Amino acid sequence: MGSVPEFYIGSPVESADLRFRGEFVAELWKALRIGHVVLTAPRRTGKTSVMDYLRDCPENGFRVVSVNVQDLTHPADIFLVLLDAFHDAYPGFLRDRLAKGWGHVSGAFDRVESIGAGGFRLALRGSDPDWNRNWRRHGDTFLARARATGVPILLIIDEFPDMLLNLSREDEELLREFLAWLRTQRQKPAPSRDSIRWLVGGSVNLTSTLHALGMVDLINDLQDISLPPLTDEDIQTFVVDMLDGREVPFDIEVPQRLVARLGRPIPYFMQIATQNLFRLWKREQRSLASTDVDAVFNEMIVGSAARTQLQHYHSRIRQYYEGPKQSIALALLGQISVSEVGLARATLLQEAERALAGLGAGLPEHERRQLFNRLMFDLENDFYVVEVEGGRYDFASGVLKSWWRKYHA
Ligand SMILES: Nc1ncnc2c1ncn2[C@@H]1O[C@H](COP(=O)(O)OP(=O)(O)O)[C@@H](O)[C@H]1O
Ligand SMILES: [Mg+2]
Repeated sequence: MGSVPEFYIGSPVESADLRFRGEFVAELWKALRIGHVVLTAPRRTGKTSVMDYLRDCPENGFRVVSVNVQDLTHPADIFLVLLDAFHDAYPGFLRDRLAKGWGHVSGAFDRVESIGAGGFRLALRGSDPDWNRNWRRHGDTFLARARATGVPILLIIDEFPDMLLNLSREDEELLREFLAWLRTQRQKPAPSRDSIRWLVGGSVNLTSTLHALGMVDLINDLQDISLPPLTDEDIQTFVVDMLDGREVPFDIEVPQRLVARLGRPIPYFMQIATQNLFRLWKREQRSLASTDVDAVFNEMIVGSAARTQLQHYHSRIRQYYEGPKQSIALALLGQISVSEVGLARATLLQEAERALAGLGAGLPEHERRQLFNRLMFDLENDFYVVEVEGGRYDFASGVLKSWWRKYHA
């Protein structure tokens, strides 16, 4: 690191500024040697930053392209965006190897000049009026040609569960066909003999998403790797370096206090809090104390920078939790948010029973229990709660807990 990194408030961290992820990046490359990987973690925890890093600093001879498929609604689109990404990152490789003799794609090269910005994708789509209907053929051709180059290729598909949810809303049968096709592509040839690797990322739990649709078996060959949280030490290092680097004087307790207030370290909140400390210093030009950290956190909970992200945690329950799970989840989180140190599992079960009774859902006991267990699993997996001392469950993020208590208890 030459100069002091910028603050990143929301956008992925640029590869030159990425820190604390060295070991994890190595772990990913290692996992990718033997198979395909799914990387999940909630929004704004640093997935895209890591995936961008793999793209910008490839290892083991890989060519890496990365696409965000959040808004795609058809399988055919994924090949368009992948080819487009190749066109941006490796135009020579695409033209001379991948697309050589593939009329649809090589033809697009000739027309792209006349179409202008975003042109390659348009030109590709224009190369086959039935591009959507022929998605499978284009997909087969694309992957077969990519393999024929003999060059290791890593395809990074960010926000994949969102695309699957879009698809499930449009055409559930098509979703099933697409997932089955993709699974076959991942298994034939077997990864040990395949030069292609898939790394899919997502902010919602892929397994839960597909469980609800009865399609988990279509992705269970992917190795599930979760993004490790930054350690207390990482956070302290971050705070010290960002403040020292800007010549901001602060009391020795400041970094520790920030760690304590953060709770589960969501890096986005870490950045906002540190930037706000820096701004406070700019305004007041005095040494910062740990009471300033408290002020910054209290401000953050009501302030606008964090609001969208916090709101996302709340609204994604409505979006992704089905049926009775939705109101039970909201009831449980409301109760936990007003607890001092979390609630026992037995207490939460009672609370869930109460919420269920309120819904008038007359489920037999074992089904109620199953629903509860499943829900607790999701809430843990989606990083709302963690098991803390004494078998109690508390909010994973201190910031989220305070916010929830204020607006949703
Ligand atoms: N290694 C890191 N160090 C410091 N901050 C980070 C790091 N990774 C992510 N962040 C913070 O998290 C935010 C979101 O990062 P991003 O990679 O886009 O997350 P995701 O893809 O999980 O939503 C960034 O804007 C930055 O504030
Ligand atoms: Mg992302």
